[in-house]
Amino acid sequence: MLNKIEETGSSSTTFFELLGGEAHGAEKLRHLVEAFYDVMDTDPKAAPIRAMHAADLTSAREKLFMFLMGWTGGPQLYIERYGHPMLRKRHLPFAIDESARDQWMYCMIKAMHQQGFDEPLMIKLSEQLYGIADFMRNQ
Ligand code: HEM
Repeated sequence: MLNKIEETGSSSTTFFELLGGEAHGAEKLRHLVEAFYDVMDTDPKAAPIRAMHAADLTSAREKLFMFLMGWTGGPQLYIERYGHPMLRKRHLPFAIDESARDQWMYCMIKAMHQQGFDEPLMIKLSEQLYGIADFMRNQ
């Protein structure tokens, strides 16, 4: 689980703080997750992973938002509600190969661009997320 990133002069700044923390209901993180699923829902490049998800993305949006909030160093809402994430286990029902992993990252990076993330933040965040996405591969 990742909580901290190394910034020059400060090793205690969390991604969550860099994303504006809890201000306005953690709106920056919320908007990122909304944009992420909007890309997945509409971009033909992500059609294969979109098809793995339920028709209604409301619960996926809520769960990813809560998970990322805790993972970036904010409140652990996901764990409070659902227990240990066990993300790899929860993804076993889905056939995740390199292509699926890359589609997931494509949606996330496109969403970060759309939300106007600073490049250094975007690079660090996507490096860390890539580690999880690659860990989800089960074929
Ligand atoms: C590598 C490619 C990935 C694919 C194809 C994928 C696919 C999925 C699918 C199909 C679901 C079920 C959604 C539903 O209920 O309709 C799901 C749930 C979820 N995914 Fe992923 N995922 C991937 C990577 C990730 C990554 C990198 C993260 C975290 C950074 C993540 C976090 C979650 C969370 C928190 C849930 C909800 C789990 C639960 O409580 O049921 N996923 N994912």
